[in-house]
Amino acid sequence: MTSSNTEDYDFLVLSNRLPVDRVVAADGSASWQHSPGGLVTALEPVMRAADGAWVGWAGQADLHVEPFESDGIQIVPVALSADEVENYYEGFSNDTLWPLYHDVIAPPSYHREWWESYVKVNRRFAEAAVAIAAEGAIVWVQDYQLQLVPRMLREARPDLTIGFFNHIPFPPYGIFSQLPWRTQIIEGVLGADVIGFQRVADAANFSRAVRRLLGFVTKNPYIEVPETIGGEQSRRVLAKSFPISIDSRSFEQLAREPAVQARAQEIREGLGNPKTIMLGVDRLDYTKGIGHRLKAYGELLTEGRIQVEDVTLVQVANPSRERVQAYMQLRDEIELTVGRINGDFATMSHTAISYHHHGYPREEMVALYLAADVMLVTALRDGMNLVAKEYVATRFDESGVLVLSEFTGASDELKRSLRINPHDIEGLKDAIVRAIDMPREEQTRRMRSMRKRVFVNDVERWSLDFLTALRSSRELPAELAEDPLGELEWTVDRVRRP
Ligand code: G6P
Repeated sequence: MTSSNTEDYDFLVLSNRLPVDRVVAADGSASWQHSPGGLVTALEPVMRAADGAWVGWAGQADLHVEPFESDGIQIVPVALSADEVENYYEGFSNDTLWPLYHDVIAPPSYHREWWESYVKVNRRFAEAAVAIAAEGAIVWVQDYQLQLVPRMLREARPDLTIGFFNHIPFPPYGIFSQLPWRTQIIEGVLGADVIGFQRVADAANFSRAVRRLLGFVTKNPYIEVPETIGGEQSRRVLAKSFPISIDSRSFEQLAREPAVQARAQEIREGLGNPKTIMLGVDRLDYTKGIGHRLKAYGELLTEGRIQVEDVTLVQVANPSRERVQAYMQLRDEIELTVGRINGDFATMSHTAISYHHHGYPREEMVALYLAADVMLVTALRDGMNLVAKEYVATRFDESGVLVLSEFTGASDELKRSLRINPHDIEGLKDAIVRAIDMPREEQTRRMRSMRKRVFVNDVERWSLDFLTALRSSRELPAELAEDPLGELEWTVDRVRRP
């Protein structure tokens, strides 16, 4: 703590969703559960070392909660009314920006009242941060729900160092330009000192939008931003790719636990010990290409290229954004298709598709990854896709085949996967058959190379790279320049030591 005011923090993370979930027990008592996401794991050491706080929404409407501590992290909740959940979160974030940024796979809706709510809620997040940020603090804003926050912060507090990371794709200008508020969004993001994207192409799309809409000079990876955008002086903003990752070691550790391996065995037996188990794990979202995957699998069964006794598909579909129309419709479509395929092909002893509309704890997910001979990631567009990396991290015996859509950020790194275009159903079917038949030596060669990548570029590396870029983007007060990130490096180094 650098200030005598106990509510001043040197490092703030802002994200729409907090890294904790509120769980209500049968007796009505509420508690907070740490959600085990990669972002939390990556930022925990920084949070502890740098006296940090996490600002975000607790996931329920009209929940007013005072700041509290959870597992050593200071949590600062931002409340949203039921109207704001509908307009800012379900509306503008998930029915305007989400489909627009994912190649308009579903048609985005444009509503002025949603936009107004988005501005209002972004302002609330910015104000919450301004109120608790120490002089010269680092503020790291996460994702598309909060794109206006960087500029709002800069206008209120030029002393802050501001980072922004976009976890989802940034679309080509021809698509982005549909957005009625495209200029405000770009100007909002440009309030940051460092803007991070998943892929090189996302950063290029953003820079192009800046040139087209604002005419600023861009010299890759920099954008020259005049003082008109929330500043007292012109600035040079860094906009580049920082591909996010997972805490690879903790996935492998879980995979090596005897109880998890026993569970994987149990899963295989429960499915009737088929020769091949294929697995899909996704939020139930139209960007994930679940329908394309089911179509390919159904056709392979119809054509007799695979037999239901030999190959089972396990599909985990995490419930998501269930009040948004496009998601309700998708669920109906997927469940109809699953029912049809099972009705046509399942026997008394073998299911074709074992379908689960649930989220599972990490242990169970790792057991599923271990049980799966083939992992199917067929997203039509995906910022990164961490499931692909999780599968690779758990396969410590170097077996297993990853079928991976080229429209995911992960495919830039996991080049030894079987890369597919999910729109090309014949190509997808061929890749699935190739994966099922792949000799063990080839699996090993591919998996070994992908595992190297996932273990070197883990989520600690990601946060360290981003924060280092952020630190060098501005001249920081001496004690900040040395302290928190230096400690983080030390922590990471210690974790890495065998
Ligand atoms: C994506 C987004 C995140 C979001 C998550 C879950 O990964 O990039 O910002 O939190 O989906 O979606 P939800 O709407 O439930 O927060």
